[in-house]
Amino acid sequence: MIPAENNRLVASRDLARGCAIRMRHRESTLKTVDTRKPLLTAIVAAAFLMPFVGRSQNPFPEGQVRDTVVLVCSQCHPLTRIIEGDLTAAEWEFTLYDMIARGAAVHAEDLDLVRQYLIDNFAIDTR
Ligand code: HEC
Repeated sequence: MIPAENNRLVASRDLARGCAIRMRHRESTLKTVDTRKPLLTAIVAAAFLMPFVGRSQNPFPEGQVRDTVVLVCSQCHPLTRIIEGDLTAAEWEFTLYDMIARGAAVHAEDLDLVRQYLIDNFAIDTR
């Protein structure tokens, strides 16, 4: 016969072990989410592009910095600001610096490429 006190001990030990397992499980779930982050980012970026798929002309054509522009420039306003912007090449140059001053995270090494991409695809005087 096991004394009642022993039973309680066993029960609380099992409870503690159960908690440890649950904690570990939680940790591994969190890790799984972390490793999926780049995938989520890609899905979000793809979702932004979805409305344009199937149009006769993709407003954001292939280019070295296409994904950067789509991601960075959709943080504060819809990308329609860019598509419907009625800007000349010179105005685009100004606007890009204006956006960076407002907080657009364009890396210094991407600056020339982003400026060229915007002018090539959206400037009303060079299109
Ligand atoms: C930190 C927030 C932020 C980010 C990031 C951002 N913008 Fe803007 N953008 C604004 C705000 C605020 C306005 C409205 C300015 C106004 O109406 O005076 C604006 C307006 C614009 C306009 C309209 C300007 C005009 O004169 O018609 C264009 C075009 C534009 N953004 C392009 C871009 C591009 C391209 C990028 C990526 C390089 C970008 N934005 C990233 C905040 C941002």
